[in-house]
Amino acid sequence: MHLVTLKEWTDSEIQETVENSLKIKNHPEKYRHTAEALNLGLLFQKTSTRTRCAGEIGIVQLGGNAHYLDWRSTNFGIADLSDEIRVLSAYVDIILARFLKHNDMLDAAKAATVPIINGCCDRYHPTQAIGDLMTIQEYIGKLDGVKVCFVGIHNNVCNSLIAAGMKVGLEVTVIAPEINPAAIDKELLSEAEQKGCYKPVDTELVDNHGILQRIIGGCDVVYTDTWIDMEFFTDPDFADERDRRVEKMMPYQLNPNLLRDLDCRIMHCLPAHRGYEIDGDLLDDPRSVIFEQSENRLHSMKAIMLYLLSQS
Ligand code: CP
Ligand code: NVA
Repeated sequence: MHLVTLKEWTDSEIQETVENSLKIKNHPEKYRHTAEALNLGLLFQKTSTRTRCAGEIGIVQLGGNAHYLDWRSTNFGIADLSDEIRVLSAYVDIILARFLKHNDMLDAAKAATVPIINGCCDRYHPTQAIGDLMTIQEYIGKLDGVKVCFVGIHNNVCNSLIAAGMKVGLEVTVIAPEINPAAIDKELLSEAEQKGCYKPVDTELVDNHGILQRIIGGCDVVYTDTWIDMEFFTDPDFADERDRRVEKMMPYQLNPNLLRDLDCRIMHCLPAHRGYEIDGDLLDDPRSVIFEQSENRLHSMKAIMLYLLSQS
C-alpha cells in the first residue's frame, strides 16, 4: 500500500491516521520502538525542509534509520526510474519521494515493492494534508463541517486539502483566480463539489476586499500557499510569469487589514513568502497556527509511516 494522492485512502484510514498523529504527538515515548531497525529511503528531486525533516527525524524517533538520497548524487537521473525504485525497494522498508512530475510518482508507485509516500509532486501534497487535518482537529476540535477558505493559486496543496477534506467532511471554499496547469484534476474537483466539500468562488465577482472579507469571515480557517511552486523560483524562464502572478495576486494577499476583526485560524503550509501571499505579521498573529501546523508535519509523518508499515 502507498500514499500517492490520498484519493486511494478510505475515510477511516484518513480519520485514524489523523487520530494517531495526535496520539503520537501527545505520547511520543510510547512510539520509540515502533519502527525498530526499519529503514526509510528518502529520494528528493526538489528541495525540502519540513517534509524531509519529518521523514528523517520521524523514523529515527520511531527507532528506525533514515537514508537521504539527493537526486543528483544518485543514478536516478541517468537510469530508468522504475529500475532504480525497484532496487531501492530491496534495500529499505519504506520510501518517501518528492518528484517534480506526478507521472513519475505514479511510475515509482507501480515499481516500488515497499510502501512509497508522495512527499509532494506538482499535483498533490498528501502528507501536508494529513498534517493540516491534524492541526484543524487540534485547534478547532473537529473536522466534520469545518469551513476552510483557501486563498491563492489553486495548486498541489489545495488539491490535497480538498482530497483529504472530502473524506472527513471539511468544506473547502477556494478563492483562486488561477490554477497551476500541472495541478488540474477535474475528476477530484467535480466529485468534491458534488459532495459539497469544494466550493469554488468565481473571482470575477470578488472585486473588492469587502467581498473577500465576507467570504473568509464565514469560515473557521483561512489558508494560503505560495503563488509560485518551488521548482520555478529560480527558473529564469519563469521570471515574466512570476511578475505577472505577483501583480495579479496582490489583491488576494492575506494581511492584517483583510483579516481585521475576523475570527478565523490562519494556516500556511510553509515556506512562506512574506510580503507576497501573506503579510509577515500574520505569521505571529494570535490567530495563526502556522508554526504548530509545521510541527505537526513531524507527528503526522510518523503516523503515516507506521500505518503504511503495518500494512506491508
Ligand atoms: N510544507 C512543506 O512541504 O515544506 P517543505 O517543502 O519544506 O518540505
Ligand atoms: N505548493 C508549494 C509548496 C509546497 C510545500 C510548492 O509546490 O512548491
